[in-house]
Amino acid sequence: MEKIIDEKNEKILTSIAKRFKRDLPQNDYHIFETPDSDLTKKAHERIQKLYRNVLSRQTLSLGYPVNQKLDYSVISPFLNLHINNAGDPYDASSTLLNTRDLEQEVLDYFANLWHAIPRSPLTPESFWGYVLAMGSTEGNLYAMWSAREYFKGKVSSCEQSIQRSRNPVLYFSSESHYSIEKSASILGVDTFQQIGNAYFPGECPITEDGHWPHGVPVDEYGGVDPYLLELLVSFFANHGYPPIIVLNVGTTFQGAFDDVTLVWQRIAPILKQNGFCIETDCFSRPDFWIHIDGALGAAYLPYLEMAYQSELSHVKGGLFDFRLPWVNSIVMSTHKWFGSPFVSGIYMSKEKYRMAPATLPEYIDSPDTTLSGSRNGLSALMLWYAVFSVSSEKQAVIAARCEKVAAYAYECMHEIKKIHPEFRVIRGPQSLVVLFSRPCDEIFNRFQLSGRGELAHIVAMPHVTYSAIDCLVNALKESDMFS
Ligand SMILES: Cc1ncc(COP(=O)(O)O)c(C=O)c1O
Repeated sequence: MEKIIDEKNEKILTSIAKRFKRDLPQNDYHIFETPDSDLTKKAHERIQKLYRNVLSRQTLSLGYPVNQKLDYSVISPFLNLHINNAGDPYDASSTLLNTRDLEQEVLDYFANLWHAIPRSPLTPESFWGYVLAMGSTEGNLYAMWSAREYFKGKVSSCEQSIQRSRNPVLYFSSESHYSIEKSASILGVDTFQQIGNAYFPGECPITEDGHWPHGVPVDEYGGVDPYLLELLVSFFANHGYPPIIVLNVGTTFQGAFDDVTLVWQRIAPILKQNGFCIETDCFSRPDFWIHIDGALGAAYLPYLEMAYQSELSHVKGGLFDFRLPWVNSIVMSTHKWFGSPFVSGIYMSKEKYRMAPATLPEYIDSPDTTLSGSRNGLSALMLWYAVFSVSSEKQAVIAARCEKVAAYAYECMHEIKKIHPEFRVIRGPQSLVVLFSRPCDEIFNRFQLSGRGELAHIVAMPHVTYSAIDCLVNALKESDMFS
């Protein structure tokens, strides 16, 4: 059998070589040089040097919400294959080398984690989603694209769309990730600031002088202010604009969690009063879209909740997932909580919101319901390995530990405050992020912190140890930054 395949491959390669008028080296179609060639040796040396360099910095990488504790060596043979999951994960594919089965299992896993309605039996309320080619940036863009198309009635739901005279208006907090505004700009979705400036200058209901801020203001820990959001939604709803609302489950800089339930309690009466959802059946064809940007938090919070239930943690976060029937979509980045060598993530929504594809490309024999064409099949494989080789119980232990490491860092830094009262340290409830006064560049770089203005931060990801925190705190204590 192998011989037949080899012969077939040889024929194909020879015909390709003929077409391009090139000779193929005898029995050697490998694109790389032979291992002992000078060129290959040089490439290996360069890579080894880079590897040693990066590895030496891995454990003290404290400032980014990315898990550096990962071991995918078991699936390294797959690096010598090209696996492509192009197309919708639930439809036939013409690419034989794919990991669609694993992708579906991964999606089942997250549907379960986020309490979505299963796909079997398939109903309009069942979940639908896919493993992202990029990270949450793609997920946020895709969510907003889905929302925009939804308001135009272009989704799989057969229910008739309500024809609104106004386009939707986008709300997001001042702490939202920049991918939100970028997505809005790509898609031509207007933010509340843009519509405010264009049609209602000086009329903003939440500022003294009536100017329109660029994002909805947040509290001291970075969570959106539900009351100010309510005032804004109310202002535009009264003018006929339905809302697209992006809520954060773990903001980038402060790791803050928007109170999704409280936001709903504040805006639901406005939506009902303005006919954006029907009183008796709020969720059949509502005229709003609520998207959860859970790049880090949509993975961390469910495990923290499990830890709380098994008394491993005395704190848990608020609800954000499909237990709340008004949540339309959730996004999460693989490389953040789980860790992976390259970026990826999950977008999840409901079958009834699956976009009606613009085309059915014959080439891939699958509806074009995802954002990219090719989708990296390794991402599904890696995430599959990450979630099925570590039990949820173990993930709960990890989540509880990370929360405690963040609390420990906060406590230790508080001690510095006693000696140097001007030293600032901030941490919101359940947050994995601790913010503190930005130190000198040497410390900032040594611990690979990230910063904004006068503040720097660390993120207590699974690879961050208590001793790494001790090292940082000692360095801060010893530094002459306060003298
Ligand atoms: C809250 C939030 N949303 C979206 C993103 C973008 O995610 P990605 O880098 O995976 O595209 C990030 C990245 O840090 C984030 O923190």
